[in-house]
Amino acid sequence: MNMKTPEMSVKKGRALVSPSMMCADFLNLDRDIQLFEEYNIPLLHIDIMDGHYVPNFTLGPDYCAALARRTSIPLDIHLMIEDVDKYAPIFCAFGSPWVCFHPEVSYHPLRTLNLIKASGGKPGIAIDPAMPVEHYKYLLDQVDFVCVMTVNPGYAGQKLIPSALGKIAELRNYLDQNHLKALIEVDGNVSWENIPAMIEAGADILVAGTSSLFGKDGSRQDNFQRMEKLLADYPGRK
Ligand code: DX5
Ligand code: ZN
Repeated sequence: MNMKTPEMSVKKGRALVSPSMMCADFLNLDRDIQLFEEYNIPLLHIDIMDGHYVPNFTLGPDYCAALARRTSIPLDIHLMIEDVDKYAPIFCAFGSPWVCFHPEVSYHPLRTLNLIKASGGKPGIAIDPAMPVEHYKYLLDQVDFVCVMTVNPGYAGQKLIPSALGKIAELRNYLDQNHLKALIEVDGNVSWENIPAMIEAGADILVAGTSSLFGKDGSRQDNFQRMEKLLADYPGRK
């Protein structure tokens, strides 16, 4: 049983991997989950999309329930949905998941954060590539983590938006200067080439999708080993 909490691993100066489950092999999910457990993966990133906030559809509550029945790895649920106040409590029901949403969809984002906490979730926000850190500053002391989108929300297989790297560093700086404990998660084109710069900029958690763990350029096993080596070569913040 992986009792270490993700925060504890981060303190050890090692970035964490949260596999993007929308990129997993749906027809061989059990094999992928066995690998996650073998490699002590601390979180599973679940992209929930409603076809309104983003033009795509992906996973839903039944998928989360099935995962929660199969493994004790905490779910890291990324809500890319419009009606977040209606649905967030449903997604907080799977263990004590990490639950982030895009504040732009909520009339009162602080209330939405309180709703996630009251429903048993670990609260987070997901910040859009087009928006400055400053825009979210009154939320940053109310969250356990910030999911910095390094691609436009909605699809796997996109390319990093270059300005997002600087934003990771800017957010890290802001959190440190204000003694805020939020972890930084990076989501989108977390590729072998981009990972060192993302960690260097201040990423604590890497959402790994088709650009790395689920990439076609190696077997699952090869990709896990390659990730292990990369994380050892580029230790996270001290
Ligand atoms: C983007 C998704 C991510 C990610 C997938 O909306 O939230 O899960 O982009 O991984 P990549 O970008 O590597 O295909
Ligand atoms: Zn995501």
